[in-house]
Amino acid sequence: MKDKIEIGLMGLGVVGVGVENALREKAADFAKQVGAPLVVKRILVRDPSKKRACQPHLLTTNPQHILDDPGIDIVVEVIGGESPAYDYIKEAVSRGKHVVTANKEVIAKHGFELLSLAAEHNVALLYEASAGGGIPLISPLRHDLLANKISAIHAIINGTTNYILTKMALEDIDFTAALREAQELGYAEADPASDVEGIDAAYKLAILAALAFHTQVLLEDVYYEGISRLAARDFRYAKELGYTVKLLAIAKREDNTFQVRVHPTFIPEDLLLAKVNGVFNAVQIDGDLTGRILFYGQGAGALPTSSAILADVIRLAQNMSQGSSPMPRVQMDQTMIAKPISEIETRYYLRMTVADRPGVLAQITRVLGELLISISSVIQKEVDERAQSAEIVIMTHPARERAMQQAVSEMNKLEAVREISNLVRVED
Ligand SMILES: NC(=O)c1ccc[n+]([C@@H]2O[C@H](COP(=O)([O-])OP(=O)(O)OC[C@H]3O[C@@H](n4cnc5c(N)ncnc54)[C@H](OP(=O)(O)O)[C@@H]3O)[C@@H](O)[C@H]2O)c1
Repeated sequence: MKDKIEIGLMGLGVVGVGVENALREKAADFAKQVGAPLVVKRILVRDPSKKRACQPHLLTTNPQHILDDPGIDIVVEVIGGESPAYDYIKEAVSRGKHVVTANKEVIAKHGFELLSLAAEHNVALLYEASAGGGIPLISPLRHDLLANKISAIHAIINGTTNYILTKMALEDIDFTAALREAQELGYAEADPASDVEGIDAAYKLAILAALAFHTQVLLEDVYYEGISRLAARDFRYAKELGYTVKLLAIAKREDNTFQVRVHPTFIPEDLLLAKVNGVFNAVQIDGDLTGRILFYGQGAGALPTSSAILADVIRLAQNMSQGSSPMPRVQMDQTMIAKPISEIETRYYLRMTVADRPGVLAQITRVLGELLISISSVIQKEVDERAQSAEIVIMTHPARERAMQQAVSEMNKLEAVREISNLVRVED
């Protein structure tokens, strides 16, 4: 039995402040739950001159003040980014400290290695906050859903892009205007690349899919594509066709293969996921025993994220104060193979501008037909009489991605095709 559990907090930014505040304000509650007080012993920051609400003597700019301290049982890493966070986590577990992190980049890139290292040193590495912020996802996948064979995950796991897409859909505005608004409100960073290019969602999907399919998912396995090509008219046309557009993170298992991809997706507007708006996140999981389940809530922010971090800390501290060993590891299946994006089969929405004259549609359908892509509908949208061009929207039946990409390349060579404006995958 330990009489207190000592914590080294690395990072005191948005999330770190939330964690530190809650540890102070809820100290009595936590001590009751754990059976011993949780005490923040040291806090690592980069800039010692910043004004902070915590006790100044706790602050340090030297990571060794935490890593070298044998009294510190749990390291909470909320610095973010790959470096130096990866090195600190690695050193902490190697020195027998439990680690709780919110770092999706480190877990997505190095999770397999770090979890093995933690197991070797008989400590836990917990990362509930790394995907979905305040929404419990990691723990349900690691515990409550273990009896299921999970066949698919469809997730909206980036609040910034969901805010932008919601604005575009509801206010008929273009991507740049919606992004500017998100930046003004603090929902998007000054450099929004990681969010709008789908990288942030790709990290989170790699983490979730690994737990869902009990396999190692490399970041290179995750295909990702951002939202910047979407235009206001794609949302109008989607609506006319009964769809809405979301940046979906999709993981699917088929026999011993799995596919993991993040891209703008047409989804039927009556699906629950289609109604997830603004900065909210939602994760839909299909299990063979549970059927379809949906997790919904705030995927970011100081308080929701600290809820996930502190749940990990409390669980660890309960184990420690009761003298139990760290939680068991999920057993990994090494035989599963990632399917490249070229091999997936899905329906497509294709928006293009073509010369407004007879015979053009026949040329396009010939290209698609030769590649065995069958069309479910063609709609002529706007005609620009001065440019003698017309905009058409094609919806296909399920087709192989490789064939679709080849068709796009063949159509681009046609003299009558002025522009292929967008190709969006459809999930029915
Ligand atoms: N923000 C969210 O809503 C959210 C949600 C889910 C997960 N997360 C994850 O939580 C983590 C932290 O995010 P955040 O938004 O709290 O970040 P943040 O506001 O930028 O805070 C980062 C903190 O780490 C410190 N730091 C940065 N580099 C350092 C270094 N080299 N050495 C020592 N300290 C360093 C900073 O020190 P200074 O204070 O001195 O600058 C700051 O206190 C990230 O992994 C992020 O992905 C965040």
